[in-house]
Order: sequence, then structure tokens, then C-alpha cells
Amino acid sequence: MSRFLSPRAAALAPYTPGEQPQDQAYIKLNTNESPFPPSPKVLQAVSRAEIRKLNLYSDPTCGRLNAALAARYGLQPENVLSANGSDEILAFAFCAFCGKGAAYADITYGFYKAQSALFGVDTTIVPLREDFTLHVDDYMDFPGTIIIANPNAPTGMAVPRSEIQRLLDADPDRLVIVDEAYVDFGAESCVPMIYRYDNLLVVQTMSKSRSLAGGRVGYALGAPELIADLSRVKYSFNPYNVNRLSLAAGAAAVEDEVYFQACCASICRTRAWTAGELESLGCTVLPSQANFLFVRCPGLSGGAVYRTLRENGILVRWFDSPRIRDFVRITIGDQEQMQSLVDQLAQMLDANA
Ligand SMILES: Cc1ncc(COP(=O)(O)O)c(C=O)c1O
Repeated sequence: MSRFLSPRAAALAPYTPGEQPQDQAYIKLNTNESPFPPSPKVLQAVSRAEIRKLNLYSDPTCGRLNAALAARYGLQPENVLSANGSDEILAFAFCAFCGKGAAYADITYGFYKAQSALFGVDTTIVPLREDFTLHVDDYMDFPGTIIIANPNAPTGMAVPRSEIQRLLDADPDRLVIVDEAYVDFGAESCVPMIYRYDNLLVVQTMSKSRSLAGGRVGYALGAPELIADLSRVKYSFNPYNVNRLSLAAGAAAVEDEVYFQACCASICRTRAWTAGELESLGCTVLPSQANFLFVRCPGLSGGAVYRTLRENGILVRWFDSPRIRDFVRITIGDQEQMQSLVDQLAQMLDANA
């Protein structure tokens, strides 16, 4: 820490991202990336001609990307704001909309806590129920902004759209932000409610279902007034927030619906297979509608599972936090990767029997 650091920055508890090894070949099941490459249309879109134009700033309005997203979701471009990953959208939202505080679950995406601290937001933590389900009734009396990851991370469990609707109806003057990073793997999206509710902001990402984690493309979908508010923050922070190559890649990814559907379907099939195998080994597997499983192995701590898998070349995510330290979160990779994972876990459980 230098002597120049402000007390506010010194008090931050920064988010710790999952390991991103750049030198050793692991089976990487720790940060919920797609095992599939981006659509071939993305490879075409990020052409030499586009690279040649890197001397020029990118389009600050993200016009073509927003238009492609609007068309995909049956919205208008005024309903869309694109950003450098959905983490950036979340940052804009914490900055713009949390004047009356923010409420979110005790077990959820760790970045919410880091961003609340960064933007000095008063935070109310709402525990998930004993079985890790989220009940919207637990949020009904909260007057500030509510943030729900749906499906939730790291549990993978989702709430139905009708439940979010109950929350929206309960107080039209309270904003509900639904983080749908994993929605394409089987949960119900709130996007169809955007025209009806101006107190709903949906956040999505291309990092998971569209194989663009390294491209950093996220977006917000909501009423034009909400999008204009986010835009105020964006233009106060970084007008050229999405780089030229990612703008081209994102638009091409969203336009290739066939490839997107095929990737999602494959991951859902592999998830069902993996969950079945792990259950037959005696593991507890939470019901996931995301591209990962949250798993507890009988007789083994989460930390032991994480470390042993790592020693054997497989990275998964372990959170050393109350209520969940017996679990590991396992990203759904391709069939071969999941077979290796199941084999390793079977050996580990055998050795422990
Ligand atoms: C629930 C949730 N929201 C948002 C994000 C951020 O995604 P990105 O910034 O890659 O778009 C993640 C990443 O893992 C996540 O798990």
C-alpha cells in the first residue's frame, strides 16, 4: 500500500477472480466459460480490416451491437446499453441506482459486495433459505434497489419469472436488477417484462453462452429512462467502453442464433449427464439451471476436493465462506472434460472410502 492511497480505497475488499493460468494446461472448470470457441461468424467479423482500424476510436454509441441486441430481444436500441463485460454494467448500476441502498443474497456473485463498497452503497444482505432457495418475500419490505442473480451463482438455482414479477408489482418505485448472466441455460428470462415494468433492469453477458468471456461484452436491457441513466455514468467514466474488435465480435455472436442454440443445448445435455454421474457417486448436486454445478462430495471438504483436483490438472472453484465451504463449483465443459472430472472424483472418493 503506498502512502498516497485514499482511506476509502484502502478500505476496499477487492473481488478475487478465479485463477486464469496462462502457462499450464489445466482442464479449466473454474470460471464458467464456454468450452466452445466463439461462432465462426465472430472469427469472420474480427477481420484484418477491422484490426487495421484500431488506430481509430470505437463507436461510443455501440450502435451496431445495440441494434443487433435489440433485434434479438424484440426491443428498441433505446432499451439497450452495451459495456465492457456485465461487470461494467453492474458498476454503472451500483453507481447510478443505489442511493437508497442495495439488497442482495448472502450467497451470490461476490462482485456485488466489492462494487457496493467501491461506490459507498449501504448494503442489506438477505440470507438464502436453508436449502439455498431465494424467496422474493424476503425482499418485499426493502425500500432500496434489489439485485438478484437469476440463476444465482454459485448455486445455479433459479426463481421463476412470476416471482420476480411479484417483486416488481409490490412496489413500482423500487428498482429490481436481475443479473441473467446464466439465463440461457434453462431459466426464465425477465426480458419479456421490460415493456411493462420501468422498474426492471436486466443484465446479461456474452461471456458464458456466447463464448466471448475474453471479448468482454455485457449489456443492460430496460426502459429507455434507465438506459439513459446508465449512459450518463458511462459517459462520465469511459465513453469508448467497448473496443472496436469486441463490438464486431459481439454483434456477430448475437446474430448467429443457430450456433448459440446448439452450444447451449450441448451444455445442458452435458450438465444433465454430469449431475447424474456425480449423484451416482453419492455427491449432493444442487438443481442447476446454469452452466455449472454446485457439488458436495461425501466425506470430503470442499477445500480438499479443490486441492486434489488441482493437483491432478483440473481447476474448479472453491469459496472458503460460511455455509458453502463444503461445496465446489464446477463449470460444465465438454463431454471429454467432464468424463475426466467424474473419473478423478470417483478415484478420490474411492481412496477416501
Ligand atoms: C452472476 C454473474 N454476473 C456477472 C458476471 C460477470 O460477467 P462478465 O463481466 O464476464 O460479463 C459473472 C461472472 O462470472 C457472474 O457470475
